[in-house]
Amino acid sequence: MKATIAVLPGDGIGPEVIAEGLRCLRALAGSFGHELRLEELPFGGAAIDAGGDPLPTRTLDACLAADAVLLGAIGGPRWSQPGAKVRPEQGLLRLRRELGVYANLRPVKVHPSLIDASTIKAEALRGVDLVFVRELTGGIYFGEKKRDATSAVDVCTYTVPEVERITRAAARLARGRRRKLTSIDKSNVLETSRLWREVCERVMRAEFPDVALEHVLVDAAAMHLIRRPRDFDVLVTENMFGDILTDEASMLAGSLGLLPSASLGDGTRGLYEPIHGSAPDIAGRGIANPYGTLLSAAMLLRHSLQLVREADALESAVNGAIESGARTADIALPGTRSCSTREAGDAVLERLAGA
Ligand code: IPM
Ligand code: MN
Repeated sequence: MKATIAVLPGDGIGPEVIAEGLRCLRALAGSFGHELRLEELPFGGAAIDAGGDPLPTRTLDACLAADAVLLGAIGGPRWSQPGAKVRPEQGLLRLRRELGVYANLRPVKVHPSLIDASTIKAEALRGVDLVFVRELTGGIYFGEKKRDATSAVDVCTYTVPEVERITRAAARLARGRRRKLTSIDKSNVLETSRLWREVCERVMRAEFPDVALEHVLVDAAAMHLIRRPRDFDVLVTENMFGDILTDEASMLAGSLGLLPSASLGDGTRGLYEPIHGSAPDIAGRGIANPYGTLLSAAMLLRHSLQLVREADALESAVNGAIESGARTADIALPGTRSCSTREAGDAVLERLAGA
């Protein structure tokens, strides 16, 4: 098949992890006989430096025209000074909005050989396999913001259609899994959460009576997530709760660097990015974990290009690399040598070649 992928390396470790993603995509295209056009474009802080806009028109147009977008990471202290007029993050939020990718899937699977990499007890971790569905284009991230000398305002809004569509996306996913959906809100305090709970309840009763639904308050969910993570299957929540809880959930897998994400809308075009940030503290040293990006590329193949065999091959190559002990510093055992970003990529490529 022929497909075009817009590639946005971004800032910090973004270009380093994306380089490994591109090597794997090229290798897969070669061995499965696909023609992938990989178009690299400026985005984030790098694009601010180049022209003052984190999401240049040329980049946005290319993303809108592509079959999928693969993104590294954006941001860094250089662009986040208190008075900054334009921030890399604004480009990312605008890109998500313009692409209409309201459903952000963040799977969390505990790899058996990485149980020791987590700070959480092994018996709580074995068999954990859950997916967060984070609402991505609404809520407090996109509400009106105001600031004067003595106060600041961030408005949080949700509409009925926004809650309906994210509930449906999560419920469809739950149908293909254990038929259990956990909706997370703060309905004891927030009006948006009361709307969220009502709409979710109504959609589930009318359209997904075969999927069990439970509601959990966000503070309790944060606790249960590390106390009994195996009980969860699909979790749906609003934008900011999803941002916070998925960083927490990454500690189940062992590292923020392992988690991929897919952001989807109504069509097949999607935005794929690891959930980690640009990690300015380790940028440029070649030690970042590329697995979150490689697993994001696998989600891209699966969800936007319908290349299931290729996605499976990439996922098992990543799993094989991890099992073989190709561990970057964030997941290395104390006292053992950790591998570089490149070496982790090599370990995956080796397995792709043998597939
Ligand atoms: C994420 C990131 C972003 C978010 C930032 C960089 C705007 O933390 O994708 O989780 O908050 O959505
Ligand atoms: Mn985040």
